[in-house]
Amino acid sequence: MWIFGYGSLVWRPDFRYINRQEGHVKGFIRRFWQLSEDHRGLPGKPGRVVTLISTGNQSDCVYGVAYEISNVDEVSVRHVLDVREKDGYTIIETNFYPKDVEQKDMTCYTYMAHTENPFWGGDAPLDQIAEQIAHAYGPSGSNHEYLFKLAEAIRTITSVHDEHLFSLDKLVKTILIQDEQK
Ligand code: BEZ
Repeated sequence: MWIFGYGSLVWRPDFRYINRQEGHVKGFIRRFWQLSEDHRGLPGKPGRVVTLISTGNQSDCVYGVAYEISNVDEVSVRHVLDVREKDGYTIIETNFYPKDVEQKDMTCYTYMAHTENPFWGGDAPLDQIAEQIAHAYGPSGSNHEYLFKLAEAIRTITSVHDEHLFSLDKLVKTILIQDEQK
């Protein structure tokens, strides 16, 4: 079984794996449109985390990391996935295209937040999303740490520009510098 991560799993997989491949999935974009009240925010002051948004356009792609899980670990990893589902994500299957051209594309599982889930944040002006991320904290740490680590990890994987991710990275860094000067 392969699992594709495009959020915190890119830089901090929380399960055991036997193989790791950097690459991308097609037909999606990555957006900070899911609210987090349990990891990177709190009830009443949610943070924002990423979800895949299906575009139906095969030239759209999202870079991340696919992890191969051994048969013996499948049950425990499925438990981790179930917890994610409770956070508003649904598991889907999609094709993954490894960066390493020697490797064939493969089917993997990943998660996607649907618009009807209780933690759906949806689209908002980028400066509002940046403000929210800059000032949200939760049990797993600050929301800006999540954003900065993700942007840094994606830059090491690909030179393909992720406009939404990198613009937020820049905006939130500016907000935090301004906060320090207050
Ligand atoms: C991720 O890290 O890729 C991820 C984890 C949970 C839900 C969505 C994405």
